[in-house]
Amino acid sequence: SAAEKGGYDYFMLKEIAEQPQAVADTLLGRLTEGGEIMLDEVRLTDQDLRDVDKIFIVACGTAYHAGLVAKYAIEHWTRIPCEVELASEFRYRDPVLDRSTLVVAISQSGETMDTLMALRHAKEQKARVLAICNTNGSTIPRESDAVLYTHSGPEIAVASTKAFLTQLVACYLIGLHLAQVRGVKYADEVGAVVAQLQEMPGKLRDLLADIEPVRELARDLKSAPTVLFIGRHVGYPVALEGALKLKELAYMHAEGFAAGELKHGPIALIDQGTPVVCVVPSPAGRGMLHDKIVSNIQEVRARGARTIVIAEEGDTAVLPYADHLITVPRTPTLLAPLVTTVPLQVLACEIAAARGHDVDQPRNLAKSVTVE
Ligand code: G6P
Repeated sequence: SAAEKGGYDYFMLKEIAEQPQAVADTLLGRLTEGGEIMLDEVRLTDQDLRDVDKIFIVACGTAYHAGLVAKYAIEHWTRIPCEVELASEFRYRDPVLDRSTLVVAISQSGETMDTLMALRHAKEQKARVLAICNTNGSTIPRESDAVLYTHSGPEIAVASTKAFLTQLVACYLIGLHLAQVRGVKYADEVGAVVAQLQEMPGKLRDLLADIEPVRELARDLKSAPTVLFIGRHVGYPVALEGALKLKELAYMHAEGFAAGELKHGPIALIDQGTPVVCVVPSPAGRGMLHDKIVSNIQEVRARGARTIVIAEEGDTAVLPYADHLITVPRTPTLLAPLVTTVPLQVLACEIAAARGHDVDQPRNLAKSVTVE
């Protein structure tokens, strides 16, 4: 009913709007003033965490994209090698696992069979399993050695939104906690990142208050034969997630690419008017990331693409190449997916609605897939 949807047309829009609170709830009680991460409920001893020499993240769908983002953050902060794997592929390729492997299983529902089978395989091989889950008492956390709940509240829409953002937050917390416990060099950054995480609910509120231009854009794009998404670094998984959302909800052809790979093939797809959504990192970030993607945007535009640029407020370098500009609040590079994903969720939702689809119950999909 309309009341259940809190006045929104769809559960998905309601859940998008709940993201600032959901992120705050995931952080609640887990950060101290002094910049310590407290994951008391995660029943792995500090010694267990110090013994970890390799991390695998296993998940499906949107949760897998959270894992892809997590790899960048976890490796940077902890210096522990981290691989991300589709749960449905994991056990069949005979991965190298032992007592000092930490397997992180990410699942909103906690019931996804592919993810459950991956974690069972990991446990048989003596790896330690940590679940990131939104559903209290579900199967995946029950079978794991430890669990970090995201506390984002029930998610009804099939396409995941607030669960994704809070999975990201949970991954950041785990990465920072591991860095602190192990006392690695990047542990110094933890306090600063904690402060930045605490600012995220406010930034998300600002972003959502200003989302109208994305709706207009959706009406414009609803008949496009394909939409491409490009990003680099953590913007790459965001591009994958943006494309997945569009497939799931609008039944449109969409694909996400690492922007640097364009020249190795996908750029051949660009034709006059092809919409390309470009996820741009902060110009304040280290390295050449920002400049590199600005030249990727120029490249696709020179070949006729219509560019939809998601960039930080005040990023003037992208202006000459953006046919449409969507700005997001200033955010440090590793945390940027928390903001850059949101306009892509809204875009997919509004395109689907404009095409007359059932946003909350897309055809052929289930919220929780309990078969392999
Ligand atoms: C299904 C849903 C997706 C979801 C995936 C993983 O395929 O349609 O939206 O991302 O399962 O779900 P989980 O509950 O394990 O996060």
